[in-house]
Amino acid sequence: IPGQKLVLITGCSSGIGLRMAVMLATDEQKRYHVVATMRDLKRKDKLVEAAGDAYGKTLSLAVLDVCNDESVQQCISGIKDRHVDVLINNAGIGLVGPIESIPIEEMKKVFETNFFGVIRMIKEVMPDMKRRKGGHIIVVSSVMGLQGVVFNDVYAASKFAMEGFCESLVVQLLKFNVTLSMIEPGPVHTEFESKMIQDVKQKEYPGADPDTVHYFKNVYLPSSVDIFETLGQTPDDIARVGSQASLPQSSSPRFRNLTNPLYTPIVALKYADETGGLSVHAFYHMLFNLGPLMHVSMTAMNLSLTRPKKLHISDGLKLKLAPDR
Ligand SMILES: NC(=O)c1ccc[n+]([C@@H]2O[C@H](COP(=O)([O-])OP(=O)(O)OC[C@H]3O[C@@H](n4cnc5c(N)ncnc54)[C@H](OP(=O)(O)O)[C@@H]3O)[C@@H](O)[C@H]2O)c1
Repeated sequence: IPGQKLVLITGCSSGIGLRMAVMLATDEQKRYHVVATMRDLKRKDKLVEAAGDAYGKTLSLAVLDVCNDESVQQCISGIKDRHVDVLINNAGIGLVGPIESIPIEEMKKVFETNFFGVIRMIKEVMPDMKRRKGGHIIVVSSVMGLQGVVFNDVYAASKFAMEGFCESLVVQLLKFNVTLSMIEPGPVHTEFESKMIQDVKQKEYPGADPDTVHYFKNVYLPSSVDIFETLGQTPDDIARVGSQASLPQSSSPRFRNLTNPLYTPIVALKYADETGGLSVHAFYHMLFNLGPLMHVSMTAMNLSLTRPKKLHISDGLKLKLAPDR
């Protein structure tokens, strides 16, 4: 169809990627043809079912493992004229736990997927975009790409790395009329969450001392579960931000897109105090002094949060941030 934009998305077997693929492929005006990619096509059923009639029309499937040069090259070469209008880098993996018990190899896998995986994709499609003087690249980062979170050290680092990379590249690309946007979701209910919980259940955390394991399992994890329950968005919430950013008419899309307004004050904390002390002590206080209280206040927030846009969390933070850490 003339004028239709070709959108390529990575990691479409579940979660945010799946919902983005479906949302764009079922666009009423049929503005997009979506190439939904995944590393293992055996995992395609959920997507195919959700896409309904769009499958085979505005949605096609392709194999793509972001960690594999050949796989990426083959996939892009399989696209007519290698022409990708919108590249959505969504594939990613999480990693939580005390770093003492995580082998370096496992940490490298996170960077290989979340950081080098995105760069591998960008390197493959960017030259054509620059030549054509058009195109849009979207990167699904995380709030943890802007603010670190305890026990998410390596995952946050991989997303910070992506933020730094994109912040640098976006300026050059603008000269070629190629746009770049980041999406920074807070917690989202996807397999990401269940994989984390499953992973924690299976692991023993060898090499970490008992106190650290205690803080991880009995302090951090319950509060993380609470935060997911209270503030978690749906993959469709994130997909909406993604489709907004993919719109053909949005010629100057926003560079950063925090999907959850409740995180705006948390990110602002960091920039409000250049010494970094405010964020460090706020997080320390929330986790170690208010752990049990957090549970109560999150539950209360859950009940009162009918309109999240009202930023109740900033009131919550003010209450919780006593001066004496
Ligand atoms: N859920 C959250 O709370 C949250 C919050 C902020 C940011 N994010 C980010 O959102 C993105 C999507 O995550 P999600 O929440 O939708 O999680 P998800 O349901 O676990 O989906 C992740 C997707 O990435 C794919 N993937 C992993 N490694 C890959 C590789 N080497 N090549 C290609 N695909 C690969 C997975 O494929 P397989 O099925 O083959 O494993 C899966 O389709 C990630 O970048 C994540 O960091 C998530």
